[in-house]
Amino acid sequence: MNLRPELLEKYKASAKHIISYFDYIPETAVIAGSGIADTLNNSNFRHELPYANIPGLPQTTVAGHKGSIILYNAGNKNGLIFSGRFHHYEGRKSDEIISLVIISKLIGIKKLILTNAAGGLSPLMKPGDIMIVEDFIDFMFMKNSNYLNDKKTHNYHDNNVYNLSRVINPVIAENGIRYHQGTYAAVTGPNYETRAEIRMLRLIGADAVGMSTVPEIKAAISLELNYFAFSLITNSAKEIIQYVSHEEVLNEAAKAASKVKKIIEICINL
Ligand code: HPA
Repeated sequence: MNLRPELLEKYKASAKHIISYFDYIPETAVIAGSGIADTLNNSNFRHELPYANIPGLPQTTVAGHKGSIILYNAGNKNGLIFSGRFHHYEGRKSDEIISLVIISKLIGIKKLILTNAAGGLSPLMKPGDIMIVEDFIDFMFMKNSNYLNDKKTHNYHDNNVYNLSRVINPVIAENGIRYHQGTYAAVTGPNYETRAEIRMLRLIGADAVGMSTVPEIKAAISLELNYFAFSLITNSAKEIIQYVSHEEVLNEAAKAASKVKKIIEICINL
C-alpha cells in the first residue's frame, strides 16, 4: 500500500482492532459529516465502537460529530458509518485528517461514501438540496506527500476512475430524489467565508463550499479506493449581512434527514 511505513504500522493497529470488534466488515463505509449521522435511525444501529477505544484515532471535538463507528443495517445490507471526522481546522495532522480513509482501505472497504454539510454558492443550490461532488477545488493545500510513500506527482484525473457517481447517480434518480451535480471547494475554516471569498469562489466555478472531503477524495484516489461524495447544502454562502452559524447547519441537516438517509441507504444497498 502506498503509505509511509510508520503510518501503515499505526493504522494497521487501528484496523486490527476494528476487524476484531465487528463480526465482519461490510463492503461500504460512510464518513458522516456535520449532523449527517443524526439523520440515521438509532433502531438500525447494530454495534457501536467509540473512536476512543481504537488505537491510533484521535477524539472528535466538533458539535454534531459523535466519534464512533456504527454497524448500520440499511435493509438488504449493512454498512459501517464513521460518525464524526477529523478536520484541518481542529489542528489535525495530515494523516489524522485522512485516517478514516486509510482505515477503510486497510479493513477492506470497497466503496467509501463521503458526506458533508456545505454552503451553496451557485444560486441553484438552496438549503436542503443535495449536490453530488463531480469535481473539486482544493484550497486546503494539503500535500499528499505527507502520507504517501512515493514521490510521484499524482494525477487526480483518475477521479473519473474512482468516483462512483456514474453508477450511483442514476439509482438515486430512479428513487425519485432530486440532486445537483457540481464542484465542491474545500477551505480550511473554521470561519465561514468572507463576502470577497464567496465572490471569488463563485467566479472560479465552485458550486458549494465546505471544510472537508477533498483531502479524503484525494486520499481515496491515491489509495485506489472507489468513492462517492455528496453535500447537503445547509445554507447559502451569504454575501450580504447575515452570518452563517453552526446551529443553522445542524438544523438544516435535521430537516433534510429523510432524503440524506435514503441516499446513504441506497449507497449501502447497491
Ligand atoms: N461555508 C463553509 N463550510 C460550510 C458552510 C459554509 O457556508 N456551510 C456548511 N459548511
